[in-house]
Amino acid sequence: MSEAFDAVDVISAKRDRAELSDAQIDWVIDAYTRGAVAEEQMSALAMAIYLNGMNPREIARWADAMIRSGERLDFSGLSRPTSDKHSTGGVGDKITLPLAPIVAACGVAVPQLSGRGLGHTGGTLDKLESIPGWRADLTNEQMMHQLEDVGAVICAAGSGLAPADKKLYALRDVTGTVSCVPLIATSIMSKKIAEGTGSLVLDVKVGSGAFMKELGQARELAETMVRLGKDAGVHTVALLTNMETPLGLTAGNALEVRESVEVLAGGGPADVVELTLALAREMVAGAGRSDIDPADVLADGRAMDVWRRMIKAQGGDPDAELPTAKETHQVLAPADGVLVQLDALAVGVAAWRLGAGRARKEDPVQAGAGVELHHKPGATLRGGEPLMTLHTDEPERFTRALEALEGGFTIAPESSRPDLPPIVIERVS
Ligand code: URA
Repeated sequence: MSEAFDAVDVISAKRDRAELSDAQIDWVIDAYTRGAVAEEQMSALAMAIYLNGMNPREIARWADAMIRSGERLDFSGLSRPTSDKHSTGGVGDKITLPLAPIVAACGVAVPQLSGRGLGHTGGTLDKLESIPGWRADLTNEQMMHQLEDVGAVICAAGSGLAPADKKLYALRDVTGTVSCVPLIATSIMSKKIAEGTGSLVLDVKVGSGAFMKELGQARELAETMVRLGKDAGVHTVALLTNMETPLGLTAGNALEVRESVEVLAGGGPADVVELTLALAREMVAGAGRSDIDPADVLADGRAMDVWRRMIKAQGGDPDAELPTAKETHQVLAPADGVLVQLDALAVGVAAWRLGAGRARKEDPVQAGAGVELHHKPGATLRGGEPLMTLHTDEPERFTRALEALEGGFTIAPESSRPDLPPIVIERVS
């Protein structure tokens, strides 16, 4: 088949800072998906985009071409409105687990298509797979049925949604082209728009444990994604949220499930509860149900009922014992004082090295591995008391995990007690 464009011309145009035309973008995404643009050509183009950017028209067209590379789901037949949340990924970010049942208990259907973890940020599916029997793979029909019946589904995204992104994301991962606003925004939004949700809330993380370390960069990403969502007719809001320190007290698969169940039972760490409810309020409002306060369905146990039904519907046993790691190691506070800093990236890398995460897509994860924190920034500590407990099945992993934690926390005299930053930094709509 003769091709409409030559890949080298498209790459050279972006290399030389020219704008790509709509036709060029449509062609390059389609041809890459079909295999007519080679991986090395797409990696050169991704790097040219990384270095020279794209304007709003190019971004919108790029996202649209990625959506058109695959199927689109349609939830319009459901009896309730839909709302979804996407997080750009952080350490200890288990929010989806309590959030989906809370929002479903408010009468809004939550189709949460999730991924597995790569690198130091955990994946929602890895966390849920620590529940005995639970399975991530559902057909579109099973997903629709569960959405109507239970109201919430957390499952693996099928291969039919935005296949161009699937290929391109894997390529970016190995070519140093992940952290680029136009490429991240189009990657996330092509999947979310193809998924067919009526409203969307984006949790854009800012800080050491996030993709976006700087507030300005995170704001630009949030604004770009909100614009793409709105242009596609999806009610879209973003919250910029703090990822300098881990969310909650756990980072690791089964450890995070346990903490999420504590939240659903009315307890759990204050920051997890606060962020879950902030996102739930946005999701419920975006779906037109501002008449219901998510805090009420959390307090009266309706959200816990939905959780149990959601886990059972996917083969899981909500009453089963969760796996625990074979070995633990305590990290003790080296001195008296106030914990002024606990770095999200250091904790995330430690959890990853303990076996909670994977370095390559095909690697297995340990269900019980991870880091359990006994204190959060602002706490007063006595020297020698436990600061955190490391969990793993393979004790030889402790050394590398401890190396990751070097410099990852600071204990200072009481007089230097820090002002703690808010969880929700800014709202973009
Ligand atoms: N998550 C995605 O789905 N895509 C990106 O590019 C980054 C994070």
